[in-house]
Amino acid sequence: MSVKSIEWRNDSVVMLNQLLLPHEVKYETYHNYLDVADAIRRMVIRGAPAIGIAAAMGIALGASQKEASSYSLLAQHIDDICEEMADTRPTAVNLFWAIDRMKRCLKEREGDSIADIQAALIAEAKLILEEDIAINRRIGEWGARLVKDGDTILTHCNAGALATGGYGTATAVMRVAQEQGKKIHVLADETRPYLQGARLTAWELMEDHISVEIITDNMAGHFLKSGQVDLCIVGTDRTAANGDVANKIGTYMVALAAHANDIPFYVAAPTSSIDLSLSTGDEIPIEERSAHEVVHIGSHSIAPANASARHIAFDVTPARYITAIITENGIASPPYPITLGPVARNT
Ligand code: MRU
Repeated sequence: MSVKSIEWRNDSVVMLNQLLLPHEVKYETYHNYLDVADAIRRMVIRGAPAIGIAAAMGIALGASQKEASSYSLLAQHIDDICEEMADTRPTAVNLFWAIDRMKRCLKEREGDSIADIQAALIAEAKLILEEDIAINRRIGEWGARLVKDGDTILTHCNAGALATGGYGTATAVMRVAQEQGKKIHVLADETRPYLQGARLTAWELMEDHISVEIITDNMAGHFLKSGQVDLCIVGTDRTAANGDVANKIGTYMVALAAHANDIPFYVAAPTSSIDLSLSTGDEIPIEERSAHEVVHIGSHSIAPANASARHIAFDVTPARYITAIITENGIASPPYPITLGPVARNT
C-alpha cells in the first residue's frame, strides 16, 4: 500500500505535515476548521485530491462542533466554513468539487435532526476519502496498460499518495505497473520552488521500493532528447473541457520537450479534477504564491536580500501536447472536446 496523507480520527482531522518531509514524518491533529483551512493554505497538505478531502473534513469538523438550534442556523454556519475553504487555494478544482458535494449532502438532509445531519456530513467526508483511494486504484489499472516492462517514466511534482487520499494518480500507474511485475524506473523532476518531486515523490516511491532518481527541472529536456525516457505521466489540478491541463509550474516545459521528441505525455486525472464548465485552460485560475518561497529554500535565503521574484504556482499545458488523459473511467484520447465529457460523466 502507500502512505496516508489524511484521516478522520476521534472527531478530528489528522494530517501528515508535508512541510516537514522527508526529514520528519509527523502526523498532526486538527480540532478546528480554521486551522484546517490554514493548513491547506500553508501546504501542510497539498495536491488537488488531498486538498478536496481536507476541505470536506474541515467542513465536517466545523459543522459537527456547531450547537445550532435550527437547520437554517447550521446551514448558515456551513456556508461560512465553505467560504473559508474556497479561499485557500484557487487552482485545484477538487476543492470546489468537495465543497459542492458537502453542500449537497447538507441539502439532502434538510428535515433531519441536527445531530443526524452532523453525522451524515462526517460520513460523507470519510466516504470522499475512501472513494478517492478506490478511484486512484482504477486510474492505476487503466494507466498500467500504457507501461511496458523496462520503461523509464518521467514525472513532475507529486501526484502521489501524499497528494491524494492514498495511492496517488500518476504514481498509481507506477504502483500498479510494478505490482504487475513490470520493471520500471522513475525520473522525478525536483519541482522548484517547493521541491515536491525531490522531497515528496522520491520519498514515497522509495518507501514503496520503486526505483527512482531525482533530476533538477532543467535536466528534463536532456533526458527526453537523449532517449532515456519512454513516457511522461503527471497529475492535474484542473483539466478543462478541451483537454487543456493545469498542473504544477514547469509541466508545460516538460510537455513541450516530450512533444518535440515524440515521447508520450500522459495526464492522470480523477474525474473530480475535470472541470467541464471551462471550455479552455485560459479560464483556469492560476495561483500566485509568495515570492519568499522562490528566494528561500526552507528558511535558507538563496538570493540577494530584497531581490524581487515571482512565484506562479501552476501552468497550463495545451491539449495538443497531451497524448491521453487517464481517468478512473477509462482513457480519453484526442479530440478531447468529444472524448473527455463522456469519460468524465461516465456515460
Ligand atoms: O502546489 P501543489 O503541491 O498542491 O501542486 C500539486 C500538483 O501540481 C499535482 O501534480 C496535482 O495536484 C495533481 S495531484 C494528484
